[in-house]
Formats: sequence, structure tokens, C-alpha cells
Amino acid sequence: MSNDPAIELAIVGGTGLYNFPGLENVEKRAVDTPFGAASDAITLGELHGKRMAFLARHAAGHSIAPHRINYRANIWALQHLGARRVVGVNAVGGIRADMAPRALVVPDQIIDYTHGRFSSFCDVEGAKVEHVDFTEPYSATLRADLIAAAARAGVAVVDGGCYGATQGPRLETAAEIARLRRDGCDLVGMTGMPEAVLARELNIDYACLALVANWAAGCGGQAKISLPEIFAHLDAATAQVPPIISALLV
Ligand code: HPA
Repeated sequence: MSNDPAIELAIVGGTGLYNFPGLENVEKRAVDTPFGAASDAITLGELHGKRMAFLARHAAGHSIAPHRINYRANIWALQHLGARRVVGVNAVGGIRADMAPRALVVPDQIIDYTHGRFSSFCDVEGAKVEHVDFTEPYSATLRADLIAAAARAGVAVVDGGCYGATQGPRLETAAEIARLRRDGCDLVGMTGMPEAVLARELNIDYACLALVANWAAGCGGQAKISLPEIFAHLDAATAQVPPIISALLV
């Protein structure tokens, strides 16, 4: 742990969210971790006088693909700087009917379809193996606080849903999404795991704020996913994030 004062909240920004507007007393901190470099330097700053950290998961300029993100370095670095609560903001595709493009969702479950990612801090020669409980993958208190903050900010969010974490970077086939739907997934994204479990391993309260950028493949009556549409929807959904986080920190 560094000697910095505690951080009230850390945000890991996903596609479309590369910095956090309105922070004061900003400083950038590059953290050296036992797992290598984090995605980017971490921005430290204050919002309503409370200390906040921000990390761009894909790096500024979106240069790191989902399967190449150093999730361990990111979570370790945030904890090292004093973060005890982390909100992961993730772009997703909507599968369930009420998760249309531009919806914001605070999921409560995960199914992990990723592979070949370093998904544990125990995955190191000589480390003591811990089998963490992951029955409820997100922090119940942080989820509730996020949902209450969204209500105070006047932003509609869907409470609950199962996040299917896929490998990427390609989008899924219609058959893959049909399978995810049968499995019980309501949303699909590429970066929700292993971030959530790594936070759990370090006893960090973690919740996900998912931004629906598009209907998942084969959903919503579309024949194909349009990239320009994804970015337009994502911009609109991303604009709703700062007011929620601001209400969370007041
Ligand atoms: N699938 C996976 N990840 C995503 C999607 C999607 O349709 N949209 C945004 N991130």
C-alpha cells in the first residue's frame, strides 16, 4: 500500500470513457506492479472534496484489446493507491428486451466465457492458493449505492441482470448469443471478467455499470451490428455516467 490518503471511489472506464470530467487537484500516477504495467497511468483527483481514482481500461486512445488487458496490474495498482471501492464501467450488447441500446444496467450476476486470461492473483509460482466465494460476484452495498445514486441523479438504470463475459475482440455470432440467452445471460461484454473476481480476491467492493451500446448479435430484429451506431449509442450512455458517479460521491 502507498502512503496516499484513502480513495473514496475508483472508476475503471471502458470503451468511450477515457477520462473523468470535473475532477479537481488532478495528478497522474504510473504504478509499477508485480504483474507488469497497468493499462495507463491512474488519474487521482477530487470530486466534491472526495478523493477519486480513474483508470482507462483500454488506455487512452483505446489501444489495448479486451483479451490483452492486464487486469491483474490494473486492480493491484488501484488497491495499492488505496482504492477500496471500484466501479467498472463496461460497454455491452443487450440481449434482454429491456436492455436496448443506451440503457444503463447494474448487473448482479456473471457467466464467464473468457479463456486464456490471467484470472487470479494466485496464478503465480509459490503463491498461496485461495478459493474465494463468488456466489454473488458484485458487492451488494456498492450495487445498491450505485442504483440509489442513479435515482438521485434522475438517470434510469436497470437493477440486475446476468453479464456474459466473452473473449472478443470480435463481436459474437447470432448462435453464440442465442446460447448465451439460453444460459441466462441478459447482456454481453468482453471486459467484465476477470476484473470482478480479481477485485474480490483483493477484498475490494466492486460493481459494474454496464452501458448498452447495441443489440447483441441476432437480437432486436437487426441483420448486422453497425459500428457507427454502436459509438453513437455509447456516447449517449456514457454522458449519463458522470452524474451518477457525482451523486454517489456527494
Ligand atoms: N458483444 C460483446 N461486447 C460488446 C458488445 C457486444 O455486442 N457491444 C459492446 N461490447
